[in-house]
Amino acid sequence: MAIENAFAREDARSSQSGVAQSEGEDRLMAQTFVIAAKTDQIPKNGLVAVEVRGIPIAVANVGGVFYAFEDTCTHEQCSLAQGDLAGTTVTCMCHGAEFDVRTGRVLAPPAPLPVKVYRTMIDGDSLLIEV
Ligand code: FES
Repeated sequence: MAIENAFAREDARSSQSGVAQSEGEDRLMAQTFVIAAKTDQIPKNGLVAVEVRGIPIAVANVGGVFYAFEDTCTHEQCSLAQGDLAGTTVTCMCHGAEFDVRTGRVLAPPAPLPVKVYRTMIDGDSLLIEV
């Protein structure tokens, strides 16, 4: 199930971002929490693909806790959102690499590198991802 640009609003800034938003270019490049999906669109113990600011991101719902991470496997670029989720482990559907959705760490080969993880935040019924 893919959710692409579910919401265009990108003004959901958060003081939790920890990024200075003071001047010039730095402000333009500052990370911001962006609405990515409604929480009820992400099935419990399931995965969805979203796209935030042009970045493909996989979201895992682990018992009601949401984890966001790079949707591109570091082996041969398959979508991790198309894989299987068991607890906090996602298994790539292509060749079986495993990643920890909390940290992005590789748990099983053949993926050579971890995937990037993104902070998440809930605001009402919306899931926000920091990008
Ligand atoms: S593309 Fe993911 S394990 Fe090969």
